[in-house]
Amino acid sequence: MKVEGCGDEASFTTAFRLCADEHGTPLNASILTWKNKHMTITKEAILAALSKVQEPELNKDLVTLNMIRELQIADNNVVSFTIMLTTPACPLRGQIEKEARQAVMSVEGVKSVNIKWDSDVPNDGRMRGLLNMPIRNAIAVGSGKGGVGKSTVAVNIAVALAQSGARVGLMDADIYGPNIPTMLGVEKLPPPKGQRLIPAQAYDIKMISMGLLVKPGQPLIWRGPMLNSAIRQFLGDVEWGELDYLIVDLPPGTGDASLSLAQALPLSGAVIVTLPQLVSLEDASRGLNMFRTLEVPILGIVENMSYLDLPDGTRMDIFGSGGGEQLAQATQANFLGKVPIDQNVRIGGDSGKPILVSYPDSPVANSLREIAQKIAAQISVAALSAKNELPINIVE
Ligand SMILES: Nc1ncnc2c1ncn2[C@@H]1O[C@H](COP(=O)(O)OP(=O)(O)OP(=O)(O)O)[C@@H](O)[C@H]1O
Ligand SMILES: [Mg+2]
Repeated sequence: MKVEGCGDEASFTTAFRLCADEHGTPLNASILTWKNKHMTITKEAILAALSKVQEPELNKDLVTLNMIRELQIADNNVVSFTIMLTTPACPLRGQIEKEARQAVMSVEGVKSVNIKWDSDVPNDGRMRGLLNMPIRNAIAVGSGKGGVGKSTVAVNIAVALAQSGARVGLMDADIYGPNIPTMLGVEKLPPPKGQRLIPAQAYDIKMISMGLLVKPGQPLIWRGPMLNSAIRQFLGDVEWGELDYLIVDLPPGTGDASLSLAQALPLSGAVIVTLPQLVSLEDASRGLNMFRTLEVPILGIVENMSYLDLPDGTRMDIFGSGGGEQLAQATQANFLGKVPIDQNVRIGGDSGKPILVSYPDSPVANSLREIAQKIAAQISVAALSAKNELPINIVE
């Protein structure tokens, strides 16, 4: 029996059945091929499948979160779409991709799936609202104690986020001991444009530091109100351009300077850096409480200099162990991760080449990258959660 043309599916199937009866050979495979070729896959069916895929961090499905864009179904039943992430530094991209692909492939007739990625970092609205600046989120890196690695963590988080494709600014707000220029190998700012300061650029980060505005070695003395207006100016008079994340490196301690800074900036959240030992933990918890008092959300705790891996394979807990996790538990904060000791961190800091650039595959770089991804995820969760109307403290 000869089948010509391609009518509707029912007549085609009937024709093939008849043919199969005649020859005694079922042609289910041919029917399937025909079906796949001529089946109309609807966008609704694809979206229905994708609405079963959860964004693991945000706990809602991809369709509800409006993450599926540019959905197209080609004539050959290849389905293409873009997943719009809430951060380019999404830690769970692999999982989302696998589940989205599986879901779409389970729709009858789909031949293959092409996924593209894009990101649109949500805006907590505080910077824009308060200072009228195109900065989507500001993240402070602080601690109660000096020398625990705040600046190191701030620089490397900024580099990691920039490497993932985010637009990142770094503000060195350590007005007493600004170290960021050295850590990024920057010696001066570009010439200002009129009244506007132009940030320095290094490793795809825009950076500004009080250290670049005063003569080297000159002592920096600040008083409360002056500090506040300096910080406001520092933010407002800088040509940052649109930023997804502004990382702010705070001075050590919970003294006047940190307090004023934390109050002057509309922060999306704060990251607390601590060493594993008890003394450092006490200071860190003071720092954490300072932010909580100011109603700045704690994005999490980083334990720096957690251990040293020796060449013989043994591990030394130079500053004790487990303190960061204990502090996170006691204060009900997120534990963001441990950063091991590596002398290349110090060498990189002194020579203006952050470890994420000089040794991007080292354990310490991997752990800093994971921490940056977790911070970005926390920011997305906070910005998209219903409770993102955080009270703002303005101190004039
Ligand atoms: N994980 C690490 N491994 C090795 N050295 C580190 C590590 N983290 C930080 N360092 C080094 O420790 C020193 C102090 O770090 P850093 O300046 O980042 O601390 P800080 O908390 O910002 O200090 P301050 O309170 O003075 O601002 C620097 O020389 C830095 O290179
Ligand atoms: Mg510092």
